[in-house]
Amino acid sequence: EFSKGINGLQKVILRESRGSSAEVYLYGGHVTSWKNDHGEELLFLSSKAIFKPPKAIRGGIPICFPQFASHGTLDQHGFARNRFWAVDEDPPPFPTNTLNKAFVDLILKPSEEDMKIWPHSFEYRLRIALGPGGDLMLTSRIRNTNSDGKPFSFTFAYHTYFSVSDISEVRVEGLETLDYLDNLQNKERFTEQGDALTFESEVDKIYLSTPTKIAIIDHEKKRTFVLRKDGLPDAVVWNPWDKKAKAMADFGDDEYKHMLCVEAAAVEKAVTLKPGEEWKGRLELSAVPSSYCSGQ
Ligand code: BG6
Repeated sequence: EFSKGINGLQKVILRESRGSSAEVYLYGGHVTSWKNDHGEELLFLSSKAIFKPPKAIRGGIPICFPQFASHGTLDQHGFARNRFWAVDEDPPPFPTNTLNKAFVDLILKPSEEDMKIWPHSFEYRLRIALGPGGDLMLTSRIRNTNSDGKPFSFTFAYHTYFSVSDISEVRVEGLETLDYLDNLQNKERFTEQGDALTFESEVDKIYLSTPTKIAIIDHEKKRTFVLRKDGLPDAVVWNPWDKKAKAMADFGDDEYKHMLCVEAAAVEKAVTLKPGEEWKGRLELSAVPSSYCSGQ
């Protein structure tokens, strides 16, 4: 279902028979909303988000490609998040089963301008699907279509902003005892010591070689997000807290209390593709009542 979104930007709405839904802007190939079958919003979208190129939309699921953050020479987080994607009318078969799923296929190819800043030809196919239980699945397939025989390397993240009731009541399970690079301390490497992660100040860490399943437990809402990933070894955890929040023009001063980014990513080791090769990175999100999976 296609319609005009904010500022006339084109969006696609996915609806699943039991009532869950998702909204995808072609600008950025960006999921801006994911609602469960009670109509509750599960992703955070800033009330100050700017829906206007070249600014990336603040919230939802921006795609960081071909560069995560400042790990390279491109602008922060690469350019996929502020390009206009197209609907892929004739996608090659995807490995994902689409039975009972609402889905849309998008494609991004570099423009001549893009090739000036990142001189590689690629086809990036993104399938966004909503499963019968309301699960949201994103599958990225990136192919090197260089005709000059050259490989290329990239880093990547699904920069997911989860909506939480109160950041001080949130716990993340699955990252304890892992090594991480701390962006707030010159990207130095540390080892997480404690239990599940909790939050009382700014955090900007890249957890390395993480398990395929991570849980975000929102005690107040009694909701647990379960994130499953494939092809994406790392996980970025980000919350700007009060000072950085104030410094961001497209983010409300107090909104940091109601969001947490947990980003399935490939950062520490860049992905390298030879011409003709394809990489696949998958993210699956579900939201379940906490008691079902954490015993809380
Ligand atoms: C996170 C990075 O993924 O994204 C942070 O780890 C960064 O360092 C944040 O501040 C937001 O980035 P941006 O470009 O969307 O403001």
